[in-house]
Amino acid sequence: MGAQGSGKGTQAERIGPQLKLVKVATGDLFRSAIAQQSELGLQVQSIIESGNLVPDELTNAIVQVRLAQIAANREKSDEVQGALFDGFPRTEAQARALDDILAAQGTKLDAVIEIDVPREKLITRLSGRRTCENCGAVYHVESDPPQVDGICDKCGGKLIQREDDKPDSIARRLALYDNQTRPLLDYYREKGILVTVDGDQNIDTVTAEILAALNERASA
Ligand code: AP5
Ligand code: MG
Repeated sequence: MGAQGSGKGTQAERIGPQLKLVKVATGDLFRSAIAQQSELGLQVQSIIESGNLVPDELTNAIVQVRLAQIAANREKSDEVQGALFDGFPRTEAQARALDDILAAQGTKLDAVIEIDVPREKLITRLSGRRTCENCGAVYHVESDPPQVDGICDKCGGKLIQREDDKPDSIARRLALYDNQTRPLLDYYREKGILVTVDGDQNIDTVTAEILAALNERASA
């Protein structure tokens, strides 16, 4: 968890493969549906571009489908150990739905990582972010630039600015985080599974601190 621009996607891309966790990033799932112009994509396009939240029922439904696929793959392969959520849950209704979905699968959340970054830094990060339109990899024009300007290091795709990284949408998204999502931190704190990491450090240091916190919890 963390506000928009805190580095959830950046860290999930690094941590997922190391821990054999499959990333479940609702924003990525919605963006790929928009790119394909599927029925879901057409339903959510204007909501996402304006920086509003997709309705809970729709979001919970795509997570449920994804988790069923991951559970099936986990039975078949040692390379799949579980799921890593990025951008989900964001409302109390989503958090409760996730608890129910996991309980029905006989499992639960092991840990919730909060990436904490001061508000003024978030704006700089979001306005300088560039995203690969092909594979979704995330860069920043100053703190994490690609080797060749405008081109993705990983797949050679074109780097674009997300529609919701324009000033009006950024303001709406940050307000939604404060109103709808931040209260969930208390929900997880009370369950004893919240770990807060200082996200105002370089990307590698944040990754190392998250991995150390997860290791500590696993061996406790
Ligand atoms: P989503 O795609 O999840 O976007 P978000 O929550 O707005 O978060 P961001 O992706 O903007 O930030 P991030 O924390 O991933 O930061 P990043 O790693 O890119 O959701 C998009 C939309 O989909 C929502 O607005 C909503 O409409 C819909 N949606 C998604 N999930 C939903 C849900 N559950 N319910 C309802 N609707 C939902 O990093 C940002 C920048 O900073 C990058 O340029 C990066 O290179 C740079 N950076 C990262 N770490 C550092 C660092 N340590 N130091 C310096 N720079 C850094
Ligand atoms: Mg992201």
